[in-house]
Amino acid sequence: MTFKGTSLLTLSEWNSQALQEILKLAHQVKWEKKTGYFPKRLKNKNIALIFEKHSTRTRCAFLVAAIDEGAHAECMGPQEIHLGAKESVADTARVLGRFFDGIQFRGFLHQTVEDLAKHSGVPIWNGLTDDHHPTQILADLMTLQEEFGSLAGLKLVYMGDARNNVAHSLMMGAALSGIHLVLACPSSLAPLQTWMDTCAQVAKSTGATLKVTQDLGAALQGAHAVYTDVWVSMGEEGHPDIAQRVKLLKEFQVNAKSMGATGRNESIFLHCLPANKGQEVTEEVFESSQSRVFDQAENRMHTIKALMLATMAGVCAGDDCS
Ligand code: CP
Ligand code: NVA
Repeated sequence: MTFKGTSLLTLSEWNSQALQEILKLAHQVKWEKKTGYFPKRLKNKNIALIFEKHSTRTRCAFLVAAIDEGAHAECMGPQEIHLGAKESVADTARVLGRFFDGIQFRGFLHQTVEDLAKHSGVPIWNGLTDDHHPTQILADLMTLQEEFGSLAGLKLVYMGDARNNVAHSLMMGAALSGIHLVLACPSSLAPLQTWMDTCAQVAKSTGATLKVTQDLGAALQGAHAVYTDVWVSMGEEGHPDIAQRVKLLKEFQVNAKSMGATGRNESIFLHCLPANKGQEVTEEVFESSQSRVFDQAENRMHTIKALMLATMAGVCAGDDCS
């Protein structure tokens, strides 16, 4: 696939091969950085990083990756620009597209990132919306590759709030990668059915399977990795149904018992972070030798660097450039 000039909004823009190409490039740039090789392939590029919500990993990953490659990155908060307030998203997009070579957006409405992509004329990267978090999943898949070599055929269990952004993007990432993904969640917190159908369609072409269940024992049996995310996502704090939701999710906490239920000593624990320890995961599992959460966090930087290189400069891994 030719990535140059394209955006990443949900992962559904890519086929299986395109995803593999980006991951291959991510492994390459990780190795380059470890060996001190900085070829500055984004020299003279300017990148806008727009945040309606807080961020540590995504913000720093874009920032450091940009600097490593010789680009300049500018962060903007909602109090600093007119986006959607004094000026329509479409107009702001057309202005920013004249200044910047690529734009990251993190915020609430998924429609905003769609509008930026439609009107800016430059690559837009979704750094998290209420519905999707595609750049997170690139790092998760890279971490699984580092651990298990290949992705196809792995069994991955996601426990908890399965209708949030991370779960939705994980579904597409798994579907594209031939992973058997089981989402263990209360029925009221199952993924959006329309998105489930979209992912199931993609899964047909890779041999992946997607299942939603409340049966934790069957879900965890044989799992290579167990993944969770917070029970209350950014923007949901203070909603009237939160106490009820937390009550429902209690049995879906990742703890020593759930890790033991995989029946595999080598199974790993994943979390996008930040974590609310004691809620969706115990401190014990978070700090255990099975935990790969900080590898995941580091891989945000390498995968985001690969994404920027491919979409802004057409860089591809090794000899794969066509
Ligand atoms: N995982 C993730 O997106 O982290 P931040 O919210 O810190 O960017
Ligand atoms: N689901 C979480 C992910 C944070 C990276 C949130 O949206 O807050």
